[in-house]
Amino acid sequence: MPAPSAPKEVAYDKNHPFPAKIVENRIVSGPGSRNETRHFVLDLRGSGLRYTVGDSLGVYPTNHPMLVEEILAALGATGEETVRFERSGEVVSMPLREALLSRCAITQPTRRLLALLREVATAADDCERIDALLADEKARSDYLEQRELIDLFEEFPSARPEPQSLVDGLGRLNPRLYSIASSPLVHGAFVHLLVAVVRYETNNRNRFGVCSTFKAERVESGVTPVPVFVAPSRFGLPENDAADIIMIGPGTGVAPFRAFLQEREARRATGRNWLFFGGQRRSCDFLYGDEFLAAHETGLLTRLDLAFSRDQPRKVYVQDRLREQAGEVWRWIRGGAYVYVCGDAKHMARAVDEALRDIIAEQGEMSADEAAALLQTLRRERRYQRDVY
Ligand SMILES: Cc1cc2nc3c(=O)[nH]c(=O)nc-3n(C[C@H](O)[C@H](O)[C@H](O)COP(=O)(O)OP(=O)(O)OC[C@H]3O[C@@H](n4cnc5c(N)ncnc54)[C@H](O)[C@@H]3O)c2cc1C
Ligand SMILES: NC(=O)c1ccc[n+]([C@@H]2O[C@H](COP(=O)([O-])OP(=O)(O)OC[C@H]3O[C@@H](n4cnc5c(N)ncnc54)[C@H](OP(=O)(O)O)[C@@H]3O)[C@@H](O)[C@H]2O)c1
Repeated sequence: MPAPSAPKEVAYDKNHPFPAKIVENRIVSGPGSRNETRHFVLDLRGSGLRYTVGDSLGVYPTNHPMLVEEILAALGATGEETVRFERSGEVVSMPLREALLSRCAITQPTRRLLALLREVATAADDCERIDALLADEKARSDYLEQRELIDLFEEFPSARPEPQSLVDGLGRLNPRLYSIASSPLVHGAFVHLLVAVVRYETNNRNRFGVCSTFKAERVESGVTPVPVFVAPSRFGLPENDAADIIMIGPGTGVAPFRAFLQEREARRATGRNWLFFGGQRRSCDFLYGDEFLAAHETGLLTRLDLAFSRDQPRKVYVQDRLREQAGEVWRWIRGGAYVYVCGDAKHMARAVDEALRDIIAEQGEMSADEAAALLQTLRRERRYQRDVY
């Protein structure tokens, strides 16, 4: 991670992140939810950072200190050993502990790391097992997916690289991006984020998403500096405030749409706003539910369609709600509406894309190819935008 304190006149960016403070950190998923979703407010005052709705905030996390101590113990290192990195032609030295905390990806082992362990392994059994993994791409990727660096140290006890080789063999700890959930017109330099905290178990160990748990648990509000930068995006509102918008954002995918709505209200945009939101249960997963219901009440949201997947025996998703409203969705699109999708890339965005194609084909009386071509045109014209991850 680059040093988070640059002189005042330097513009803060990805290479010179601003040391922001978290001033609010609260759980917004209710009791009984299978997710832990948090609302954060970060104070960017004094940074000079500018953002527009649709942009993301980049956050440089640090790894879990307990995990770093486990790694140091397995390595038989004190943590004080000096290691070096090259950055933009400059050599930076730091203690091994600091490197493992803030510079190295210790939770995502790679083939390169496995190859390094093979080089230094001394026990025949370790060498044989690593060789087998190096030779079989599928077995290796299945194996690595379930493991972190600490697992490899446990499973190959004779493979102990020198501190410098280890940090050279590890990937870089990258910043994570988060859709900004607030409008600068309303909240100025206080940036809001909506974050699903990642926790899961693999290989019989509890795992912690590096950045989401960093912000949720390891940052002391108002005290710990959180290195951030603005990641500009082409995902954004139409310049024409009279244009209608359709927003499709289940789960944390709704974050930028909260910002869109704040912005449209502040700009007194006359275009209509339609939100499709989805979550598992209305009672605990209706993220920013009160705000969206109030916006519907005042008419800021012309339409609000909700898909709570687990409130009835059959799952209902946002794409099902879109299909139910096919005629109206088509009328909005034909009338020039912009369509936005945000959230899960793997399943949701694909299913929504398919639903949109079907709606266009059926309602516009087109062939599947013509509908796909129209959607492509909408994409080119920035009238169909996706921010999916
Ligand atoms: C443009 C953009 C905008 C984004 N906006 C948001 C947002 O508004 N809110 C938000 O919460 N996130 C958002 N994300 C995702 C965010 O950037 C991070 O990827 C997310 O917070 C996880 O980061 P982490 O460091 O906590 O977890 P990591 O340490 O990166 O761990 C995540 C990895 O853990 C593994 N994993 C996760 N769950 C499991 C499981 N059950 N079983 C096995 N392996 C698993 C997967 O390999 C996954 O990639 C956005 C991403 C992008 C690219
Ligand atoms: N937000 C994302 O885009 C994203 C991406 C990758 C991983 N995750 C992980 O998921 C957890 C919570 O994330 P979240 O709050 O964003 O949302 P979430 O609660 O996981 O999902 C929101 C809603 O989307 C539904 N859904 C599941 N599959 C879908 C599909 N194919 N098409 C449409 N909707 C679908 C879910 O239903 P069911 O669960 O009932 O099926 C739920 O009702 C976190 O651990 C996060 O890391 C999220």
